[in-house]
Amino acid sequence: MAVWLRSLAEHRGCAVKLTCVECELTYHPDDDRTRCDCGSLLDVTFPIPQLSNTTVFTERMTSWRTPDASGVWRYRELLPEFAGQHIVSRPEGSTNLYDAPGIAQWVGVDQLWLKHEGENPTGSFKDRGMTVATSHAMKVGAKMVACASTGNTSASVASYAAAAGVPAIVFVPDGKISAAKLGQTVAYGAKIIQIRGDFDAAMTLVQQASQKLGIYLLNSINPYRLEGQKSILFELLHQLDWQPPDWVVLPGGNLGNSSALGKAFSELRMAGILKALPRMAVIQAEGASPFYEAYRSSFRGFEPMEADTVATAIRIGNPVSYPKARRAIELTDGVVEAVADAEILDAKARVDQSGIGCEPASAATVAGIRKLVQQGVIKPGDRVAGILTGHVMKDAETVMEYHLGEGSKGRELANRPVVIDPTIDALRSVLADEL
Ligand code: F0G
Repeated sequence: MAVWLRSLAEHRGCAVKLTCVECELTYHPDDDRTRCDCGSLLDVTFPIPQLSNTTVFTERMTSWRTPDASGVWRYRELLPEFAGQHIVSRPEGSTNLYDAPGIAQWVGVDQLWLKHEGENPTGSFKDRGMTVATSHAMKVGAKMVACASTGNTSASVASYAAAAGVPAIVFVPDGKISAAKLGQTVAYGAKIIQIRGDFDAAMTLVQQASQKLGIYLLNSINPYRLEGQKSILFELLHQLDWQPPDWVVLPGGNLGNSSALGKAFSELRMAGILKALPRMAVIQAEGASPFYEAYRSSFRGFEPMEADTVATAIRIGNPVSYPKARRAIELTDGVVEAVADAEILDAKARVDQSGIGCEPASAATVAGIRKLVQQGVIKPGDRVAGILTGHVMKDAETVMEYHLGEGSKGRELANRPVVIDPTIDALRSVLADEL
């Protein structure tokens, strides 16, 4: 699965740097540090080319081969230079953009698209970041890779590390990740450390492990992860013939994805592809909403919180990428909203029963759009693109609880399986109202 990236059409010379987001100190691009000496986050920076036309991206779509078949590397002019390097690719991306009229009506807008990042190789958007960061890990000669995770990052790390032939170690909160995500990570062969504590504790430990033991860190604090995740926006705009929607809406947990999209917006503008920027809306679960609280205080302060939500993927109280996500909101005149678990679960049932399906954290996108329409922030005539971040099969426990559990009785959308004897009469009586 590792392929050689031979040439970059029109690619500029190597001037890639790691640049501190606060003090602007720069480091060599192959330094495997994830923070500046001043303690702040790093960006991967490089000269953004002027792209007079985008036909090269469309031409590459006729190829079945990596890198062109990858919905990340297809946009390589907008990524840091990797020419002449091995890249590790499944390949990822090329996810569907669904026109979702039924959900549009439910949330109250005329035009809603849902970009399904659950259609990536391991079932979440993490693969887009992982192809770039794992390739960088191999480039710098990493002996082992690691992450802390609520389940999707760990599945993706485990898969890409296996593809690259490098050992992986993952730190997950004990009992707080779905069986499917844990199962995936077990299956791909990563070493799994279950922490007596939450994701935030696991994140602290993995950063120490990376610094003290020299293990390459694959969390989204690694700026190469964000480079890959920018391609969600590149591909989404490509699918809309580069006509930007009015809004791009996504869930926020550790805030890596919000940060990546913010960087993508700004670089697409520099490349001359976007003139006006869409507004970004980041949706958090009420029980895990430190970014929302900071936004409400006009970013005057930031308080971590102890997180709890049914959407375990975003059960995060101290997001590491807060400064970059704040920058993205400010850049795009964006908004941050929080939704209750009940709203997330109802939105998920709507997305699921439209035939598209997604995991709970992804449904926060749809619940958030609905809430923002009710508040008059998103207007009914706005063109809205929502990101669904993970696959419906990522969390079967929550599906079963919603449809069969204690609270399911009064639920409009509850879909309870029926048990019958194997006779046609028994079947007839079950279907009496429908046939
Ligand atoms: N949606 C899903 C399905 C996720 O798995 C995550 C994060 C998010 C949204 C939030 O994205 O952290 O970039 O703001 N999952 C991480 C993990 C934390 O470990 O899998 P974010």
